[in-house]
Amino acid sequence: MRSQYCAEVDENNVGEAVSLCGWVNSYRDHGGVIFIDLRDKSGLVQLVCDPADSTEAHKVANEVRDEFVLIAKGRVRLRGEGLTNPNLKTGKIEIVVDELIVENKSDVLPFVINDEKVGEETLLKYRYLDLRKPKSYEIFKLRSKATIAARNALDAQGFLEVETPVLTKSTPEGARDYLVPSRVHAGEFYALPQSPQLFKQLLMVGGFDRYFQIAKCFRDEDLRADRQPEFTQIDLEMSFCGQEEVIAVSEDMLKDVFAAAGHDIQTPFNRIPYMEAMEKYGSDKPDLRYDLAMVDMIDIFARCENEIFSNIAKDTKKNRVKALKVPNGDNIFSKRQMKGFEDYVRKFGASGLGYFQMKEDGLKGPLAKFFSAEDLEQIIKVSELKVGDVIFFGAGDKHLVWDYMGRFRIYLAELMEIIPENRFEFVWVVDFPMFEVEEGKIKAMHHPFTMPSNIDVKDPEEMMSIAYDIVLNGTELGGGSVRIHKPEIQEKVFKLLGISDEEAHEKFGFLLDALKFGAPPHAGLAFGLDRMMMLLTDSPSIRDVIAFPKTQKAQCILTQAPSPVDNEQLKELSIRLRDKKRTTTN
Ligand code: AMO
Repeated sequence: MRSQYCAEVDENNVGEAVSLCGWVNSYRDHGGVIFIDLRDKSGLVQLVCDPADSTEAHKVANEVRDEFVLIAKGRVRLRGEGLTNPNLKTGKIEIVVDELIVENKSDVLPFVINDEKVGEETLLKYRYLDLRKPKSYEIFKLRSKATIAARNALDAQGFLEVETPVLTKSTPEGARDYLVPSRVHAGEFYALPQSPQLFKQLLMVGGFDRYFQIAKCFRDEDLRADRQPEFTQIDLEMSFCGQEEVIAVSEDMLKDVFAAAGHDIQTPFNRIPYMEAMEKYGSDKPDLRYDLAMVDMIDIFARCENEIFSNIAKDTKKNRVKALKVPNGDNIFSKRQMKGFEDYVRKFGASGLGYFQMKEDGLKGPLAKFFSAEDLEQIIKVSELKVGDVIFFGAGDKHLVWDYMGRFRIYLAELMEIIPENRFEFVWVVDFPMFEVEEGKIKAMHHPFTMPSNIDVKDPEEMMSIAYDIVLNGTELGGGSVRIHKPEIQEKVFKLLGISDEEAHEKFGFLLDALKFGAPPHAGLAFGLDRMMMLLTDSPSIRDVIAFPKTQKAQCILTQAPSPVDNEQLKELSIRLRDKKRTTTN
């Protein structure tokens, strides 16, 4: 139907006959001559329908409305003097139409394409219309290029692309499962994979040596700006290797992926141990585009004469006192703003936020009176304070302090506008603890298949793992680990996690069996492709980079999923609902 795409026509085609297809972006009638901006994925071109050239085409053009689908045949000519449009790739030419075909009409659209004020619900309901905007096309073009670059990079490194099942058994990655009822096995369920973790390990036992997959993963968890219930991983696994090989392969792949998106990134990336990241930045995904590192004040506070603080500071295992220095903060922030900072951290469980101001005549602040002159000097020294600087500090349980001071660090950086744009700051976070305690329960920090680095340590909370996360500008882009390849270690880890032998065999018997048949040492990693695309396209939400995303409430507004099903279907699946009203037929 077409000779070329709309925006591919230029001055070199003047005089040529062309056939162009697309949508009516806009139309206007100028004294009997109708101008139509025709749009396709490449951009816009101007059609001119003049009755002097073709009465028939002009008659059709009269009927044309926004978003009608057209095929236009005509010839290319230069635009007249003063009529060129420098903002348009095709701004020097226009198409004199001699045949115009309306392939399809369009109702009036529920919103104007490109209008930024349209609500998200409407955009998602008519996502196919939202996809018509040039920015959407650019995002998915880049996504396609990045995915192909990842595939090629891994293929070149000897990885085999293998698909693993979607109807499967639960793989623990810390979220709830999406379940699919079995018709044939009444009362039994498949789980959609939270990741291909166990299958990729089995492929290593199968001797494939290097596997990758662009894999769909499903997690029923609380959604945020960078989380979807259904998302895509670039997932890989390698045999007879450890952390260093996985890091090297990943960096090479990222270099190619970012190059495909037009960015030259420098490798190798920096590394930071987990504990250092928490102590300095209060987060295991620190944004290192700016500094604002926290300083430890616990020793100094242990000596102060305020009992609340000195008591907190005496328990150095459980608690922390952390200070954040804001250079010249005294002159940047008003008293009211400083008060507002306290309200901000309270939202995350802080009981308050102290501060010291560095004045000409020394350190001042509501708490200064509780410190000896030497300790005030010490605070100035460890924080390297200059006149005008302010330090804010938080004291209490270490996890709480890390969390709210880490958030406060980001909040301050945004407020002070010190985050550089157009910069990719990668960092590997390494040396993770094996376990974390949540609500008194011990749980795997990565997943239970991660290899501990000191398995014989007495206190499980002291056990470390060979796990690594890749962080970009404060977002966790991927995570991986060296895996346990010996059944006795795997069984020990399950035990430490409070998983009984029966439960371990019921849930992961197939893995434990496989580990007994000569499992090679292996390690791997998975990148969140959607998150990568969010960062590469500078999109505020993960929904922007997914063709048909779900809402914060895990709904697909376009198809109305999830939706009730009729009783017949439920009966086939041997399911009876407690609330009968939820079916489409009763
Ligand atoms: P993990 O659970 O860390 O590791 O996931 C890997 C990466 O996937 C992305 N991700 C998500 N993206 C969007 N929405 C979500 N709900 C979501 N959850 C995770 C993140 C994350 O870093 N099997 C292991 C990998 C391994 O050990 O090889 C795993 O899945 O970018």
